Amino acid sequence: MEIRLDGKRALITGANSGIGAAIADELAEAGAKVAINYVSRPEVAEQMVNDLRNKGKEAISIMADVSDPTQVEKMFYELDSQWGGVDILVNNAGIDGAKSDTWDSELDDWLKVININLMGSYYCSRQALKRMVPQKAGVILSTSSVHEIIAWTGHSAYTTSKAGLSMLTKTLAQEAAPYGIRVLALAPGAIKTTINQDVWNNQQGLNDLLEKIPLRRIGEPSEVARMAVVLISDTASYVTGRTIFVDGGMTDYPDFAHGG
Ligand code: BGC
Repeated sequence: MEIRLDGKRALITGANSGIGAAIADELAEAGAKVAINYVSRPEVAEQMVNDLRNKGKEAISIMADVSDPTQVEKMFYELDSQWGGVDILVNNAGIDGAKSDTWDSELDDWLKVININLMGSYYCSRQALKRMVPQKAGVILSTSSVHEIIAWTGHSAYTTSKAGLSMLTKTLAQEAAPYGIRVLALAPGAIKTTINQDVWNNQQGLNDLLEKIPLRRIGEPSEVARMAVVLISDTASYVTGRTIFVDGGMTDYPDFAHGG
């Protein structure tokens, strides 16, 4: 079975690094037009656009901070003027945030994580749905995390943002289903990107991490991106309102491989 998304207009937020970049590449490979949203390192976004165009794909880049509703609105106007709307939104922009026990956390640090990971997804989904509902078609896929269900000491803003994203996904799916729109989330486990580089780059951190993963390896961004394409495509036409985990078994209680 070959998955094609020819001519579909896709916006991927936080698309110039890590999982977002891999999803943008896979979507383009399947024939979608991709809008690479970024907030920093414009040269990387430009390079991605050039590489995709050289391969005969349609790609543009759009700068916008997803935590700013005005910039998000402008980004969607830009999509309207370039492509006349949007068919696919991938809410991917996100940060882990500063690690700290919650009682020692800085208010600004905590809010920053919520504003990017959760509010950003809300702002973008809201704008996307304003366009998808009238056209009675569309797919929204958000990058959540295993931490939408696994608590993580020192990262309460992150876990809270991802748990919120899970319920935003379910509720938007219910609201938008009558219009033929599907809303899903993807929950990666430990994937090899710069976000967790300090952990997999040192032997002790890596060993500790691998014990938490039944498949005993860190995932590759492409392994998340391939699942993203499946979920966005009609292959998953009857799947909505759910988070799909791509985590090497991390949420499978690996401690129970012994004892109990
Ligand atoms: C985080 C990573 C972490 C992984 C597993 C992800 O959501 O962004 O930093 O390695 O969860 O804990």
